[in-house]
Amino acid sequence: MREDIEHILIQESEIRSRLAALAAEIERDLPVGPVLVVIVMKGGLVFAVDLLRHMNRAVELECIQVSSYHGGTESSGKVDLVDRELPSVRGKHVLLLDDIWDTGRTVEVLSDHMRRAGAASLRAAVLLAKKKTRDVATPVEYVGFEIGDEFVVGCGLDYRGLYRNLPYIGVLKAGVYT
Ligand code: IMP
Ligand code: MG
Repeated sequence: MREDIEHILIQESEIRSRLAALAAEIERDLPVGPVLVVIVMKGGLVFAVDLLRHMNRAVELECIQVSSYHGGTESSGKVDLVDRELPSVRGKHVLLLDDIWDTGRTVEVLSDHMRRAGAASLRAAVLLAKKKTRDVATPVEYVGFEIGDEFVVGCGLDYRGLYRNLPYIGVLKAGVYT
């Protein structure tokens, strides 16, 4: 697997310490009481596991599966909800966790759903945000790292379903795509 990586963008140790700080920041901001954490599968899984270990309060967990890449390295711009039923969020303080903020469509679509479904409050956190302009109205409150507008893998992020288990964020060698 390592032989497919051109270079490492963010080391495992950097991610670990950043997530501890990010969890503390989120904890300070969240209203008192339980929080419903909604993990955007599958990309948000690794980030969620690592972040939640640092959180010091009762959380309820739900997962939601979406698809927007369809196997390539560019977002299709269309977000498909794979799950037909969304978790019940009515009256709950929701923290949405995803791997990366790219076009912003995923967070936007899911946030719209949850607001309409009566969430008491809604915040989103991502491990990575690409530096780019986005034509979406919904912000992301918590960002682990800002990166350039390039395709990355690891820590939940995949290329054609692979590399999600890499403990760091890396850029693939050009040969992997051809
Ligand atoms: P959106 O464009 O913000 O809706 O992001 C859609 C999804 O595309 C993310 O949740 C990721 O699963 C995926 N994605 C975006 N950029 C990358 C990348 O650089 N590597 C792997 N997956 C990505
Ligand atoms: Mg993905």
